[in-house]
Amino acid sequence: MPVNRASLTPVTAPIDPTTTSAWAELTSLKDGFAPDLRAWFAADPTRVERLTLDVADLHVDLSKNLVTDEILAALVKLAQETKVAERYAAMLAGEHINTTEDRAVLHTALRRPARDVEHLVVDGQDVDQDVQEVLAKEYAFAEKVRSGEWRGITGKRVTHVVNIGIGGSDLGPVMVYEALEPYATAGISARFVSNIDPTDIAQKVKGLDPETTLFIVASKTFTTLETLTNARLARDWLWTSLAAAGVDVSTDALKDDAVAHHFVAVSTALDKVAAFGIDPTNAFGFWDWVGGRYSVDSAIGLSLTITLGPDVFRQLLAGFHAVDRHMAETPLEKNVPVLMGLLNVWYVNFLGAQSHAVLPYAQQLHRFAAYLQQLTMESNGKSVRWDGSPVTTATGEIFWGEPGTNGQHAFYQLIHQGTLLIPADFIAVVNPAYPLKDGGQDVHALFLANFLAQTKALAFGKTAAEVEAEGTTGALVAARTFAGNKPTTSIFAPSLTPSVVGQLIALYEHITFTQSVVWGINAFDQWGVELGKQLALQIAPAVEGDAAALDAQDASTQALIAYYQEHRK
Ligand code: F6P
Repeated sequence: MPVNRASLTPVTAPIDPTTTSAWAELTSLKDGFAPDLRAWFAADPTRVERLTLDVADLHVDLSKNLVTDEILAALVKLAQETKVAERYAAMLAGEHINTTEDRAVLHTALRRPARDVEHLVVDGQDVDQDVQEVLAKEYAFAEKVRSGEWRGITGKRVTHVVNIGIGGSDLGPVMVYEALEPYATAGISARFVSNIDPTDIAQKVKGLDPETTLFIVASKTFTTLETLTNARLARDWLWTSLAAAGVDVSTDALKDDAVAHHFVAVSTALDKVAAFGIDPTNAFGFWDWVGGRYSVDSAIGLSLTITLGPDVFRQLLAGFHAVDRHMAETPLEKNVPVLMGLLNVWYVNFLGAQSHAVLPYAQQLHRFAAYLQQLTMESNGKSVRWDGSPVTTATGEIFWGEPGTNGQHAFYQLIHQGTLLIPADFIAVVNPAYPLKDGGQDVHALFLANFLAQTKALAFGKTAAEVEAEGTTGALVAARTFAGNKPTTSIFAPSLTPSVVGQLIALYEHITFTQSVVWGINAFDQWGVELGKQLALQIAPAVEGDAAALDAQDASTQALIAYYQEHRK
């Protein structure tokens, strides 16, 4: 029996965190704070055990963070006073917590298991039923492509899918595809086109056979300049290269037929999909309550369902859901995403951190930091709160990172010995997808030794006395000394399974959410990307030589356009 759980109560005003008693406690704990991980570890044999928590398959060691029990207790109190759990419950129930767009925020509903009893109904929509219907359509289509039942215009099976999308319609799919590429065993591989720089599509279609290529145009709004431009370029490429291969696409009807066989779409705007010429039967919908950066688990993941298979996608969704349940059901003091979000608040608002590194010791996660950049910074890079009033604290830090060990040979120097505080998350798995040996040496074990060495070095450093004991003297002693007390969180999992990938994404979604609630931010709008989009449309004619449009520009923009005109071949 459907139950309408969307509350009719108005979305509450944000609570200014700086007025809470927890904030006052944290402020006084920060005064004279001199973290000493060496001393804390030496004095407290239970620190690691107390600060290591499991969430689904993720084993999370928080012990090397710059916190005492008192600080953690005050942070948990901050979450209570700013009502993190209550707002999460409001989100799950379908309240319109995306205030500026007056929308519910229900990405968690995308991964709820199929239910035959109590359905979630929000704003009159049976969310569970709609999600399951689209999933069923998506899985059936994926199976058709994988089995070879779906064929290109000349009767050949699909060997490549090309996802055309940008932002949330690209970063999630490409990140998960790279993470789970060992599961792509059906003989279909994926490529991803996002940038409007024509180099992107030109390079991505290189070597492709038009007769065996399927394009997925993925766009929530189906209005995004980059995606629609690339979709038109892809369509032109399809027609031109089919013609070059001797396929007759000389009439509009034949061209339409080619598009029908080689283009599908994912969007909330199915009318616009049809206007582009894609058969609505081959369009997969989702809803305005799924934010772009929260949409990889919607039909936006179609490239994954096709290449990795419905079973893998189901496991991915189950991983997300396991962490959603942990977030909803675990007391704040043991709640991993909440604690990680609160630690970030501690670092940003009390210890002055401005960035946060995410360092996967898993090559397959090489796009994870790029994915997180949109998730975290498009969500929390805001200066106003959800009621339009200014924020009262520093907000969204910069997320960045590269996989280890590559980063070790690039920027770790600054984390170890620079003057900035950079909290870092290390992510590693026990079992690699490709276990290789170098002679007798297990290469992945050597890789993991690096992860352990880095977190140890960052936490405990190396004193001048230790450096001298190795025979170093003079000015070199200071250069070789490591201060330590550089905070890290270690996230370990048995293997990079589809479920673990889903768990990792949900973990960071809820970390981001926790921070947003403490700061009073609506994490689900992105007005900050609008101005640039508008201006690009105004400037485009000026770049192409329109005098009036050029006149309307500022002096710097005019000079740059003049340089462009002068050097254009
Ligand atoms: O960059 C702004 C943005 O709206 C993102 O939030 C979104 O993920 C991306 O553009 C792509 O939007 P769409 O899926 O509508 O093409």
